[in-house]
Amino acid sequence: MDSFYEKVIRPWFFRMDSEEAHEVGVKAMAVLGKLPPICRMLEAWHRLPVKRFGPVRVCGLDFPNAVGLAAGFDKNATAWPAAAAMGFGHVEIGTVTALAQPGNPSPRMFRFPEQEAVINRMGFNNEGAEAVTARLAKQAPRGQRRIPLGINLGKSKVTSLDAAVADYLRSFELLADHADYLVLNVSSPNTPGLRELQDASRLRELLEAVAGANSARGEARRPLFLKIAPDLSYRQIDEVLGAIEAFGLDGIIATNTTLARPGFFATVDQAGGLSGVPLRERSTQIISYIAKSMRGKLPIIGVGGITDAASAGEKLDAGASLVQLYTGMIYRGPFFAAALAHGLADRQRR
Ligand SMILES: Cc1cc2nc3c(=O)[nH]c(=O)nc-3n(C[C@H](O)[C@H](O)[C@H](O)COP(=O)(O)O)c2cc1C
Repeated sequence: MDSFYEKVIRPWFFRMDSEEAHEVGVKAMAVLGKLPPICRMLEAWHRLPVKRFGPVRVCGLDFPNAVGLAAGFDKNATAWPAAAAMGFGHVEIGTVTALAQPGNPSPRMFRFPEQEAVINRMGFNNEGAEAVTARLAKQAPRGQRRIPLGINLGKSKVTSLDAAVADYLRSFELLADHADYLVLNVSSPNTPGLRELQDASRLRELLEAVAGANSARGEARRPLFLKIAPDLSYRQIDEVLGAIEAFGLDGIIATNTTLARPGFFATVDQAGGLSGVPLRERSTQIISYIAKSMRGKLPIIGVGGITDAASAGEKLDAGASLVQLYTGMIYRGPFFAAALAHGLADRQRR
């Protein structure tokens, strides 16, 4: 299936601007998601034999396989109902911000096919927390979903850093009821100042407020993750882990895109976050560092540059419980997650 994608569909997609192709993909998924019988058929086709391989249990949630769709693909919750049919074991929507916002001027997403990489500076274009909440209210509710749904929250661009906590809390209050898990994204490089929320004092303030609001929900508390950048030093990661422990977050997502420009990219003059193969090694190093520091006690979702079962397996071996991908699907096609889940099962069997 995916070689058909690579030979026939990808060349057609790649003649389009990256974001235009992305929009076509999101719309196709949205259409598929409205056809439940076809989704169920595809899902059955892709499903791993549960008796032998699953589910993967993380933070009290059951994942039919370890492969998730990373944040940024389905920003407005229109596409996720089809994710299980494509072979994903979980899906993370967003980043959603409290206020609707258009993001940066286009073009803002660039493919590098030889490197299997993308640079993007989308800037959290999304319809805002209220619109996304209204959409989720009409879709399959918690408990009736095929796979867990994560909701990734970010800061609205117009909100100052000093007002960031209230901005995140606003999105949290609106969206928590609909989430199987939530993610605080403090690591996208395309919202000015956002990554400063990874600094110790700002991070503690944010985590204290959101984790407090989460605990106050009692039974309705949701697993809460923090998504970090690959450009942190190990000292900064130590501080982040200290804050995660202090405020009882449930896990970490490592990593977002990088501002580094390794190898080929040293001379590429394009602002934004780099994803795909050039990010792979760094994100795996960070996963490994976190797993060792936390002695395997903090659930890790590993993301960055997964293109096959070997590169996904490296992240699991480094200490991740689950993995996610985005850029790999651009190059390997819509059923890449299904192929990967089967590849990981084969690896486990061996
Ligand atoms: C076009 C694009 C948009 C993205 N948007 C978001 C986003 O809104 N929020 C977020 O947390 N990560 C976002 N990401 C980062 C991905 O979720 C992921 O962390 C990163 O791309 C590394 O994984 P990959 O190499 O498999 O793509 C985006 C990535 C891409 C390529």
